Amino acid sequence: MDRVYFKINGKKYSAGGEFSVDTTLNEFIRRHADQRGTKYMCLEGGCGACVVSVRIPGAGGDEDSTFSVNSCLVAIMSCDNWDITTIEGIGDRKVGYNIIQRRLNHFFGSQCGYCSPGFLMSFYSLLHSSDGHLTEKDIENSFGSNLCRCTGYRPILEAFKSLAVDANPKVLQKIKDIEDIDQQICPKSGKNCRDSCSDKELQEWCLVNKNSKNILSVPKQMTLADGRLWFSANNIAEIFETLDKVGYDSYMLVAGNTSKGVRPIISYPKVLIDISNIKQLQSHYLDVNLVLGANMTLTETMLLFKELAESNEDFWYLQVLYNHLDRVAHIPVRNIGTLAGNLVLKNNHPDFQSDIFLLLDCAGAMVTLGKWISI
Ligand SMILES: Cc1cc2nc3c(=O)[nH]c(=O)nc-3n(C[C@H](O)[C@H](O)[C@H](O)COP(=O)(O)OP(=O)(O)OC[C@H]3O[C@@H](n4cnc5c(N)ncnc54)[C@H](O)[C@@H]3O)c2cc1C
Ligand code: FES
Ligand code: FES
Repeated sequence: MDRVYFKINGKKYSAGGEFSVDTTLNEFIRRHADQRGTKYMCLEGGCGACVVSVRIPGAGGDEDSTFSVNSCLVAIMSCDNWDITTIEGIGDRKVGYNIIQRRLNHFFGSQCGYCSPGFLMSFYSLLHSSDGHLTEKDIENSFGSNLCRCTGYRPILEAFKSLAVDANPKVLQKIKDIEDIDQQICPKSGKNCRDSCSDKELQEWCLVNKNSKNILSVPKQMTLADGRLWFSANNIAEIFETLDKVGYDSYMLVAGNTSKGVRPIISYPKVLIDISNIKQLQSHYLDVNLVLGANMTLTETMLLFKELAESNEDFWYLQVLYNHLDRVAHIPVRNIGTLAGNLVLKNNHPDFQSDIFLLLDCAGAMVTLGKWISI
């Protein structure tokens, strides 16, 4: 034997005398197979950035075995007969992302992304080696192999735990809702699929499942007596869809609509979009941070703060915020008045003495703005 033969993402390669003994699998993958998704950092098996998945076909009736390796440690010459899968081999924007890539994304488990291929390939290998029968505890225990310097481990762990056989049903429902919506969003434009791409574009970009179209309901639309248009959106995408159709010149979102009690609206815009039915904007979740939906009402926010302050000592300070919120406006306003409504009011009228702005600022909160990308 003068060469070793192996596959990387299904493609055949061989290596022989042209390489030195210290040529590693990592180097081969990156420099010779030209697949740069697999990273490296410590080059000593400590960080996990270089992890790839390996399948060795069963010999003599044995079953195939799948496992993860630190490619920075493996000599290329040891790879005879290996079937190696790197991050490029499990999914991408052209063929569609693998469920574990989507979950990491949905749980915000990646920031700079440098560690993500390693985490994903560690987990991918674990899933394959266990036929998918992993419990939350198994997954938690498997986390010693990878380091992340910027995201924090909780969202990564939660993303993978959502694939456990004993995963929390509430988390699964949330994920189902997100994935149903995401399937309709064009990865190129960020807008809902309009079925207007050329064949070439479809081949290159389109991930939308054509069979599952029409899941999004059509927003209700009314022409009011004063000629203004009123839409009722059922989800975030519909807000932007409506604005794309009617134009961005003169519009307003309507949540609790209580702000006009503070700053009267002299002249209404031409288009009003009711967002009070959008569940996505009214929910919250907990990863390393507490993430509040923009249109949670002040009452819902208070209840949540109280519950967390009592159940989780990391959130003791929410009791102080609760006590303050208890003095904001009064119960009927708090029951429909929302966080975003208050903050936008403050933004539009800087002289408005917003308690919500003050509280969130004191707590060091960050606001995430949604933006629609036009092509
Ligand atoms: C009697 C009274 C007393 C009050 N007392 C206090 C007080 O003591 N302290 C205090 O801080 N506040 C007080 N407020 C303000 C109150 O908190 C706000 O009116 C309320 O939070 C606004 O929320 P909303 O959902 O009703 O907003 P809306 O009136 O529906 O909307 C307000 C603005 O926000 C925009 N908007 C809403 N949601 C979004 C979104 N998701 N994305 C982008 N834009 C959005 C709308 O387009 C609109 O421009 C009081 C209000 C009243 C009526
Ligand atoms: S580069 Fe750090 S474990 Fe391989
Ligand atoms: S996402 Fe940056 S190191 Fe993990």
